[in-house]
Parts: sequence; C-alpha cells; structure tokens
Amino acid sequence: MCGIFAVSLPGNEAGNLVLEGLKKLEYRGYDSWGVAIRQDSGEIILRKDVGKIKDVQIQFEMSGEAIGHTRWATHGGVTMANAHPHQVGKVTLVHNGIFENYLDVKSKYQDEGMGFRSDTDTEVIACMVNDFLEKGMSVAGAIRHSAEVIQGRFSLLVIAEGFPGIYAARRGSPLIIGRGETGTFIASDIPALLEHTNVVNYLDDDEMVHIEGNKAEFSSLISGDVIEKREVAVSWKAEQASKGDYQHFMIKEIFDQKKTLRDAIDHDDEKLHEAVELLQKSNGAYFVACGTAHKAAMCAEYYFAEISGRKINVVPASEMPSFERFINDKTAIIAVSQSGETADVLEILERGKKAGAKILALTNVESSSMARLADVHIPINAGPEKAVASTKATTAQMAILFLLAYADAGKLNLGREILSGTASAINDLINPRYENYVKDVAGKILNQKSLFIIGRGSLFPMALESAIKIQEVSYIHAQGFPAGELKHGPIALIEEGVPCLVLGDDQDTLSNAMEIKSRGAHIIGIAPKRAEVFDDWLKVPDCGQAQSIATIVPVQLLAYYLATFKGLDPDMPRNLAKSVTVK
Ligand code: M6R
Repeated sequence: MCGIFAVSLPGNEAGNLVLEGLKKLEYRGYDSWGVAIRQDSGEIILRKDVGKIKDVQIQFEMSGEAIGHTRWATHGGVTMANAHPHQVGKVTLVHNGIFENYLDVKSKYQDEGMGFRSDTDTEVIACMVNDFLEKGMSVAGAIRHSAEVIQGRFSLLVIAEGFPGIYAARRGSPLIIGRGETGTFIASDIPALLEHTNVVNYLDDDEMVHIEGNKAEFSSLISGDVIEKREVAVSWKAEQASKGDYQHFMIKEIFDQKKTLRDAIDHDDEKLHEAVELLQKSNGAYFVACGTAHKAAMCAEYYFAEISGRKINVVPASEMPSFERFINDKTAIIAVSQSGETADVLEILERGKKAGAKILALTNVESSSMARLADVHIPINAGPEKAVASTKATTAQMAILFLLAYADAGKLNLGREILSGTASAINDLINPRYENYVKDVAGKILNQKSLFIIGRGSLFPMALESAIKIQEVSYIHAQGFPAGELKHGPIALIEEGVPCLVLGDDQDTLSNAMEIKSRGAHIIGIAPKRAEVFDDWLKVPDCGQAQSIATIVPVQLLAYYLATFKGLDPDMPRNLAKSVTVK
C-alpha cells in the first residue's frame, strides 16, 4: 500500500532510477506518483502527477539523490495536491502508513497561522519535521521527535535542503535498504531492488537510517543510539519479478503454478514438524488472515478437520478483536499472508504475542514483518507475486496448509505424495488448448452483470475465493455460497441465463445445480467429470483431498480472461493495492 523508493549514489541518475524503481512498485498503489530530486545547486525540486506511473516517460535533471512515491489514497482524494512528496520549508517527505492523530497536530499548526496545501496526513509530518528543524534540531532529531508524536504505522523518507543524504524511518510499514557497491537504495518491497542488488538490510520497527552514497548509518528511532544491522542476501532473482513474454503479471503468475506448487512443498520435514508441534502444544488455534489468504485458511480448516481431526478456528483478521479474549499463552495463532505486511493481521499478531500466544506465520515475502515476528515461519516459496489478484501464492499457501494437516496426522509422506500428484496434474492442465476452453466460457458470460458460484466441503471456500478473483479483476458482481445454502434465500436471485459456476461433481452439489438450472441458470461445471446438468464444462483433474487446489486454477484463468476481454488491466484493478498496510 503505497510504494516508496530512494536512491543515493555518485553520478546523476538518481531521479531516473527512482522513477524506474517506482514503476516496479506500482502494484502497491497507482492513484498518483511523485519524485523529488536534489539538484547540484542544493535545491530540491518535485515532479508529480495523478494516474499510473507505468507510462511516464521523462528524463530527470541530473541528481545523485532522489526519493519517490506511488500512492494508494487514504487521507485526501486523488489530486495533484495530495500526491507525495510533500514539501514544507526545507523538508521534503514521502510516507506510507497512517498518521492517526494528524488532525490534532494539524489544527495546532493552523492555530499558529500555518497553511496546508493538501488534505493529507503526510503534509502534517513534513510540517512537524520542518518545525523541529527550524527550532535547531538535526534532521535525525527532528524525525525522532516527530515519531514521538505520531500514532499509527508509518514508513518515511526525508530529504532536507542543506543536509546531505536521505533519511528513512520505520514503525510498522516495511522498508528495505539495498546495498550497492557505490550507492544505496531504499524500497518498500524487494522486487524494486533486485535489479541493483540482492544484498539488503531490513529496517525494523522504531529504527531509522541515513544513507549517503554507499554508506548507511542505522540508529534507534527512540534513543538515537547507533545500531549495527546484519546484511542479508535475498534469494529472489530480477527475472522472477518481471513479466517476461507475458502480457500481464496475472497470467504469468497463473502459469508459474506449473512450478510453484512443487517449490511450496519442498520443505524439510523438520520445519513442518516444528510448525505442527506448535499446534499440538496449543490448547486452541486460530487462523488469522485477510481476503484470499483468509479463503486459503478456510480451506485449511477443512483439511485439518478431515485429515488430522483438529478443529482450528478461522477468523478474518479485522473481525478478530471480538475473539481476542480467548487468546492466551496456550493459544496458537496461524497467520497466512502473501505479503506478510497486512496491517489487520499484524496487529492481531502483535497483541497475540503480548498475550503469550505462539505465532506460526506462512508468508511469501520471506523477511516480512510477520515472518520476523513469528515463533515459527514457513516461507511459501512462490517467488515474487506482483499482480494485485493473488494466484500462485494462494495455491502455495493451500499446499503447505494441506501438508501441515498431513504432518499433524503423522502421515507427512502420504500428504507429499498427494500434492506431488496434484502439482503434476496442474502442470499438465495449464496449456494453450485449455486456455481456449476457458476463453470460450469467458466469451459467453462476459456481458453478465452477476454470477454465482457454489461448492461444498473445501470447495465452499474456493467458491468464495472464485468470487473475489472474478470481482476484483473483471468488476462483475460475483458471489460464492455453500452449495446447500442457495435454496435458503439466494435462489431468489436466479433468473433466466444467470451464470452459475458449480465447483465439483458430487451428487449433492449436482442436485443443487439442478435446482438452479430448473430456474433458468446457465450452469458451468468445474469438475473432474462431465455431468448432464452442466451447460458448459471445464475439466479439472481429480486430485482427491487436494481437489480445492486444482479447482481454483481454471477460475483464475476465467477471471483473467473476463478482465482482458473487457479491456481491463487485471494487474492493477481499480481501488485496490497489492499489500494492504493500513487498517
Ligand atoms: O498479503 P496478504 O496475503 O496478507 O493479502 C491479503 C489480501 O489483501 C489479499 O489476499 C487480497 O484479497 C487479494 N487482492 C486477493 O486476490
């Protein structure tokens, strides 16, 4: 949610490098963009605009230091004035996060006669830092002092006239420092750094850094004391974070599933047993996740119930506060998240940890905040996922959760065998011929206003996930239901020609399909066997208990083709951002 990028290096390319870095971070927000560069004269100049950064083709003035931002609007509409960077006096600043008490601080400055150009919380931070600077503090001191006032999560980049170098500070929103041979880079996510370096320092909460050329000095955001940070080599490669020959990241990432499922299950037994031990020692376990990751966790609720006979509660992170009274030092919390940075989940984990709960985190971004907070972390090994719609990370999450259920049952090898068969089946499934079947179905339902999806057992969460996939990229109203629930109300919405995706071919689900077909619905079966009730059929391999993993793949393709046939950009759907780091 908001991408930020900074460069300090000898030479004159900083502005252009920041622009390129922001293009790689655009999936984090694409309402507006902006870059600030320090000119040779010392003056800091701004270039910003509303809209997506991907098509911006400008050459920046010569500069060795620049900061930039691509915005997902929170406070203030999508306007030029609200685009970052914000400049007050000598201070220019970009910000990711939310300054919750900004109105109190803003009104104090307004009472003193200060005028604001934007509606953002960020401009108020710039105003504070500048104020403390004018009162004689150093830039680092002014940032520390401002951080004392700010309630909420943030990451900040600050560049100040008359003070060389770039400052960055973090509390709750990610910041990674890339160490090049001659220069230093700062980004809110790893893919933007890979082209320059794979050696990084992770900034932790309440830490700051000052970079100048290839020097980086870390300090505490609380005390100002200097901190030593470890350099870490990142395993992701630049090619993994690029589209290659594909038109969009979404379709590339769907095809990546030919391999990622195998990578996901490629964990040594010890790690999986460590995770399961944490569950087995607990007296009550909760899956906490958001959006698609929450649907993967819902699936896992079925896996554990059916495979190891363990009941695990599943709660969307934003609803967890109602259940927090049940969290104590005997509880296991299992966080499922692609980014490992989702604010609603992080907050529950932080509070859970304080209550003594043990944390197991499954994340794709290996050194994410959740990974670092967890007692046990399992990386899902899907490689960078850049399309806003999660695809390969979802199936990787489901595969690991499936494996954990088998490990819990003491039958890890059998779990691996089933998943290995599923991985091969998915590898065979995704090919251009199959894509043509999906395109054919997409063409038939393209102009529908609404569609329904039903499934039973672990295919019910996949019906919910199918709805998210279709809604977010094609903007068609889609809703998922347990197959048996439709007749208890939603069936009233079925009219002649309304498409209904039926996940599975078990007798009960087929009977439910028949109930809606007889009221005019157009039935699209997604199942191993063709049934008479299906008007259209997308075959999926029979993967037994791992059927949910195979079944979501054709729906991902369907969502992709619905979006592209409608001329929409599936990688950057309206109003969304890849990583939701605000509550
Ligand atoms: O990074 P996370 O897995 O924690 O993200 C959670 C959701 O925001 C995410 O799954 C969202 O629902 C996706 N856009 C769905 O495709």
